[in-house]
Amino acid sequence: MSENNTIRIGIIGLGMGGGHARRLINNEIKNGELGAVCDLNPERLKAYEGIAQYTDVAEMLEKADIDAVIVATPHFAHVPLSKQCFDAGKHVLVEKPLAVHKKDCESAIEAADKHPELVFGEMFQLRTDPVYKKLKSLIDSGELGEIRRINWIITAWFRTYSYYASGDWRATWHGEGGGVLLNQCPHNLDLLQWLFGMPTKIRAHCHFGKYHDIEVEDDVTAYLEYPNGATGVFIASTGEAPGTDRLEITAENGRVVLENGKLEWIRNEIPMSQFCRETDQGFAKPPTWDVSIPIPNSNAGHGVVLQQFVNKINNEGELIADAREGINSVELGNAMLLSSQLDKTIGLPMDSEVFATELARLIDASPKTPHNQNA
Ligand SMILES: NC(=O)c1ccc[n+]([C@@H]2O[C@H](COP(=O)([O-])OP(=O)(O)OC[C@H]3O[C@@H](n4cnc5c(N)ncnc54)[C@H](O)[C@@H]3O)[C@@H](O)[C@H]2O)c1
Repeated sequence: MSENNTIRIGIIGLGMGGGHARRLINNEIKNGELGAVCDLNPERLKAYEGIAQYTDVAEMLEKADIDAVIVATPHFAHVPLSKQCFDAGKHVLVEKPLAVHKKDCESAIEAADKHPELVFGEMFQLRTDPVYKKLKSLIDSGELGEIRRINWIITAWFRTYSYYASGDWRATWHGEGGGVLLNQCPHNLDLLQWLFGMPTKIRAHCHFGKYHDIEVEDDVTAYLEYPNGATGVFIASTGEAPGTDRLEITAENGRVVLENGKLEWIRNEIPMSQFCRETDQGFAKPPTWDVSIPIPNSNAGHGVVLQQFVNKINNEGELIADAREGINSVELGNAMLLSSQLDKTIGLPMDSEVFATELARLIDASPKTPHNQNA
């Protein structure tokens, strides 16, 4: 690290990584500087004249003057590349998802724990969105009372055939390891666990290539049970337009709906269970208030996650998301897929070995896996 607290960052993978590079080039990140770029595809390096360029990660780690690395490659490479960076003494900010499956997350966490001096963050930028921050503060403060039901319909991730054709790794078992649960939903699944904790059981139904010519899931309906008996339904799809993004929470103190960037809370004057027990009227409901919840304007997005990563390396504040927490969203997605495959309820924590074996079977059997194409 240079004396003036400037953190020089190398970026591996210049698709999404290109956006992070631009933020650094445009001086949007205090004390952050772009030190090197690396992509297997030399075409993608051309836009970075004047920046040290590599097509090989090992060479970048050996030669480039960098303190930290952003790993923004397809998912399967997140864990091996993060480990390679730790071994080279670099801090890591990994794109979501942390890994394709829970067992790989465990191995990433084990490697990170061997290097407590290195910062390991994950790009969960939705945690910086003021509306989710507000919702979290409502839940954590106890204002909503105990949560009874969670419904999240997140079908606003519409993707076209052209999107799936934009990379040969996409939407295949061997290249991506999953579909909507692994590519589009990691943010939602992370928010789900960040807001409500982990469920104890999951039962899900996934549909594979229902709306697209792909082999992985593009439509999911999952039922979740939580330790306090609360239940949840999580519905996701990349095949519906216009689609919906509606999170509805039923709690003792009323119903909160997050939709269109707004929080609407119909607040029970008396907690619903108490009213249910105590009233002498058979068809009454608790009286309510409509609560208007102002959402403060604050910086949000990828830049905030990157800024906090740099700050953390400089011992100035905390990460938006420690990558170790990324195991939870991966486990939720894995459990939904496994439940559908095995046609049964999955208890959590899930056995990571069972899912890894099932995924290996899917990869092995897929006609899109290179060894089958060459056969
Ligand atoms: N946080 C977000 O909002 C967000 C948004 C989009 C994508 N992502 C994540 O970013 C990752 C990349 O997605 P994308 O859409 O940019 O994919 P992409 O295919 O557009 O880009 C990936 C790049 O990585 C390069 N690459 C692959 N393996 C490499 C290696 N070993 N060394 C060097 N370069 C390598 C490829 O050549 C390619 O240019 C995914 O894990 C995805 O989930 C996150």
